[in-house]
Amino acid sequence: MIYLSDRNVISSRSFNNTKHQAEVISRLICKHMISEKLSLAGKTAVITGSSQGIGEAIALTFAEFGASIVLHYNSGKQKADQVRKKVSKLKAEVHIVQADFSKPNGVKSFHEKVLKKVTRVDILVINASVQIAKNWDKLTSDEFDEQIQANFKSTLFLMQSFAPAMEKQQWGRILTIGSVQQVKPHPEMIAYAATKSAVLNLVQNIAMQLADKGITVNNLAPGVIATPRIDEPVPKADDRILQRMQTPVGEIGQPEDCAGMALFICSDAGKFITGQNIFVDGGMSL
Ligand SMILES: NC(=O)c1ccc[n+]([C@@H]2O[C@H](COP(=O)([O-])OP(=O)(O)OC[C@H]3O[C@@H](n4cnc5c(N)ncnc54)[C@H](OP(=O)(O)O)[C@@H]3O)[C@@H](O)[C@H]2O)c1
Repeated sequence: MIYLSDRNVISSRSFNNTKHQAEVISRLICKHMISEKLSLAGKTAVITGSSQGIGEAIALTFAEFGASIVLHYNSGKQKADQVRKKVSKLKAEVHIVQADFSKPNGVKSFHEKVLKKVTRVDILVINASVQIAKNWDKLTSDEFDEQIQANFKSTLFLMQSFAPAMEKQQWGRILTIGSVQQVKPHPEMIAYAATKSAVLNLVQNIAMQLADKGITVNNLAPGVIATPRIDEPVPKADDRILQRMQTPVGEIGQPEDCAGMALFICSDAGKFITGQNIFVDGGMSL
């Protein structure tokens, strides 16, 4: 018998010859190493906007892979409670924190509340965002400011708040959730799209500055994903513009399509990936 792990026990009689035996063992070791690297056991992950949609899927996936979870919501307490129940069923430790990132003190109060719940944060997923769909020439100053504050300014201050402790730990993962609109801006979402491009620039800048401190900083850019957000009304744009915005794979994505990539980037498997923009968009960015 050869024991590779609790689950991988093989009999030496199952090999044709020693070369075959070496190949099988090396494949199993490789598989074991990769699944070990994907484990988030002992890590604590804070996921903003995890009361539904992509944030919820990331929280559930991280919990399945062993992380303790801090959920966040703004106005959807009931939805967040539902997600909390799902995370608890996975036997993961889970907390919930409320914050409005469109308010200037939103990040400060969020950071303080998180530190009352957990003693360390290893992974920060900046997923919450405000998206206001309107003709570009009708967008008001307040609507512009709300999106800049919630999507862009808060991203910087979330990183400023959580990165120093990660630096001390010499291990951290920061993942922003961007959008295919970084490169294909929707005509009715002018400020939202611009904030997503701005965040990528910030990610590339900070990734370089934290690269030698055990912290990776990346951006995952979804295409059209089936979450409550895509049911919200959007003013009709010209067909000539909309045709350019279709998803080549022929169907929209699911939140879980983003969660798998988020797990990879935020685990030890992703330690050599930093400052990157990764599209999870069914080819929409092409
Ligand atoms: N779905 C897509 O097709 C798509 C495509 C590209 C990019 N994205 C990006 O992916 C991320 C998640 O999208 P999603 O579709 O899963 O979103 P969603 O279902 O609309 O959920 C948005 C989350 O953000 C929170 N949130 C909204 N306004 C907030 C505020 N002012 N302060 C703090 N939190 C706030 C919401 O909390 P409450 O509900 O509790 O208020 C909710 O948890 C976003 O960054 C989005 O821009 C999505």
